Amino acid sequence: IRTIGVMTSGGDAPGMNAAIRAVARACAYYNVKCIGFYRGYQGMIEGDYCIMNARSVRNIISRGGTILKSARSKEFRTPEGRQKAANHLKEAGVDAMVLIGGDGTFKGGEIFSKEFDIPVIGVPGTIDNDIAGTNFTIGYDTALNTVIGAIDKIRDTASSHDRLFFIEVMGRDAGFIALNTGVGAGAEEILIPEEDLGLDRLLESLKRSKRSGKSSSIVVVSEGDKIGKNVYELADYVTENLQDYEVKVTVLGHMQRGGSPTCFDRTLASRLCVKAVELLLDGEKNVMVGILNNQIVASSFDKGLKEVHEINKELLRISDILST
Ligand code: F6P
Repeated sequence: IRTIGVMTSGGDAPGMNAAIRAVARACAYYNVKCIGFYRGYQGMIEGDYCIMNARSVRNIISRGGTILKSARSKEFRTPEGRQKAANHLKEAGVDAMVLIGGDGTFKGGEIFSKEFDIPVIGVPGTIDNDIAGTNFTIGYDTALNTVIGAIDKIRDTASSHDRLFFIEVMGRDAGFIALNTGVGAGAEEILIPEEDLGLDRLLESLKRSKRSGKSSSIVVVSEGDKIGKNVYELADYVTENLQDYEVKVTVLGHMQRGGSPTCFDRTLASRLCVKAVELLLDGEKNVMVGILNNQIVASSFDKGLKEVHEINKELLRISDILST
């Protein structure tokens, strides 16, 4: 392998720049040419790329976002789109790819590598942490800390005005962000898609909080939770059925995806991407890398895509005890 390509795809995540840096530097270290494709699969389709050396990634380890930009390419889902991408890789002399992204990225990578026999390694980068084959995805830890900071601030004003806040956090169909920030910020209730609390139990719990002397409350709601149609309707329902509180809603939204990555995410990205390059140079192909019990390991794409990364429901019990 003489040339390795790298790209970031899907929703961006803090630490993606640290990941790009690690690929480019590992390539430089092993005397391999490195090519960065812009906007994920779309840049591969359009032949939009740049040559990267050790110096092109200087001072990016601390920056949020991704210097290679990111996109969710619809065209790559078509055989014609993938053919164009394969043609451009050939033209650029790319022998193998490191794909940094979430499950959509891995799905595309698996199909592409089989169709055109191009070795690919997937690196899990998403704030959602919803990929099996790794305990942590790049960006998740930073997002947790961003969310905690926001909830702490909302707690201040909730307390001053004796209000009940519903705070919606990201995570797509997974509740990792909600569950862990809910415990970390001491939320009174946490609503996640993996566990159906039910509206009656939610009301009962909020009433109990009030009776126990709490004058304000925080409920963290994962965006994928199905208890209400959406967080605003849920807040309306609670307002109608629980007159004790003035209810407010905050949707944290895309601020959760930005910001300088934490040390954990920078280190994780560095370790995963050095391993990705080394695996390609060792002749490995079509696997994802992940961190399991603090070891960097390769797993089949199937594991990442088909298995479910189980959430730790024990944290719901901890939350119940500690929000007494
Ligand atoms: O996968 C990351 C994520 O931020 C999810 O948590 C969220 O559901 C989705 O992406 C939002 O996507 P977009 O940036 O396209 O609105």
